[in-house]
Amino acid sequence: MRIKETISLKKINTFGIDVNARYFCEIETIEDLQTLVSAEIFQNNPHLILGEGANVLFTKNFDGLVIKPVFKGIEVVRETHDEIFVKAYSGEVWPNVVMYCCEKNWNGLENLAYIPGSVGASPIQNIGAYGVEIKDVLDSLEAFNLETKTIEIFQNSDCKFDYRESVFKNEYKGKYVICSVTFRLSKIPKFNTDYSAVNDELKRLNSSELSAKAIAIAITNIRKSKLPDPSEIGSAGSFFKNPTVSEEIYQSLKKQYPNIVAYLTDFGVKLSAGWLIEQADWKGFREGDAGVHLQQALVLVNYGNATGIEILNLAQKIIDSVKSKFGVELMPEVNII
Ligand code: FAD
Ligand code: EPU
Repeated sequence: MRIKETISLKKINTFGIDVNARYFCEIETIEDLQTLVSAEIFQNNPHLILGEGANVLFTKNFDGLVIKPVFKGIEVVRETHDEIFVKAYSGEVWPNVVMYCCEKNWNGLENLAYIPGSVGASPIQNIGAYGVEIKDVLDSLEAFNLETKTIEIFQNSDCKFDYRESVFKNEYKGKYVICSVTFRLSKIPKFNTDYSAVNDELKRLNSSELSAKAIAIAITNIRKSKLPDPSEIGSAGSFFKNPTVSEEIYQSLKKQYPNIVAYLTDFGVKLSAGWLIEQADWKGFREGDAGVHLQQALVLVNYGNATGIEILNLAQKIIDSVKSKFGVELMPEVNII
């Protein structure tokens, strides 16, 4: 383990923001972590755990220690007739783990195909897409407690998962390094193809038999058609969460905007933030290199040299404009640093 000084983070955040970390360290083993937490640099500086940087917006240089876990490996820990428990280490790249499991017909991760990032970050915001969230497939995880210097096991229910939320994004923020995640996958085909876009793409692909791999390919194609490729245009995916409002507020908005896009949930009505932003006339907007994606208004983009502050200022203008038009407050999904 080597602590480096003044390292550029431009290639380690998908927004492509040009900032430096004062100190930077890759962690390959638990022993590395134990050594690091005893070091003066860790004790005397703020720290940030960074995966692939696909859900962060840097607004300035990070004047502290960036810790990047690069634990590698995927292993089967146990199996029954119907189920298989697969442990993936936090430095594994998420889309690769999804495809690995799909190829083996271990079902459950396919709807989460092609989400950028690392395994270690996947529980942080309970990643989700096309009707599945990590909470639906996560059995348990191992995390290193940076204060007690010990490994703790979190069962699914300990993680307090919610829509784009977990205990690690809230009360335990920055306190644990997630080292591995164990997924409970099914050997029996049972798929979630509720989204019409997924069904349409499966039909278009003419997949003769429904399989995890076929679904993963269909979802990858859909995602490629509407989300920017971070190697070409910087982004962190959806910048905001889809807001939830009461049935009463929804009904009054619906009277005024009959085409409003919304979904009924157990906790109220979830509105499409993309629709709200598009109706407030922001889709395709560009100021300097900061902009709103042409195909998906929920995605803020960096066309090259935008600063984090420029992206943040644009986000604030969108929040204000949606609030004044619809009376609805958008909340960022991205971690602003
Ligand atoms: P980072 O951005 O590096 O970190 C995110 C947070 O997790 C930070 O707070 C960080 O401190 C913490 N963290 C990272 N690793 C660890 C660890 N090992 N231990 C403890 N804390 C850690 N998200 C979705 O949910 N659904 C989508 O459909 C989706 N689509 C996207 C599309 C695009 C084009 C992009 C760029 C992003 C998208 N995202 C989506 C967001 C992103 O892919 C996920 O949030 C992903 O889990 C981020 O992984 P990461 O390794 O890059 O995390
Ligand atoms: N819409 C618009 N205009 C837009 C964008 C969307 O009108 O510019 C409306 C359309 O009616 C569209 C609907 O909103 O059919 C839903 O759009 P989409 O399927 O793209 O989903 P989303 O609600 O905008 C969410 C997640 C995505 C996830 C997709 C697919 C959040 C914040 N975002 O987006 O996650 O991939 O669903 O399930 O929940 C991310 O978290 O970074 C992310 C990309």
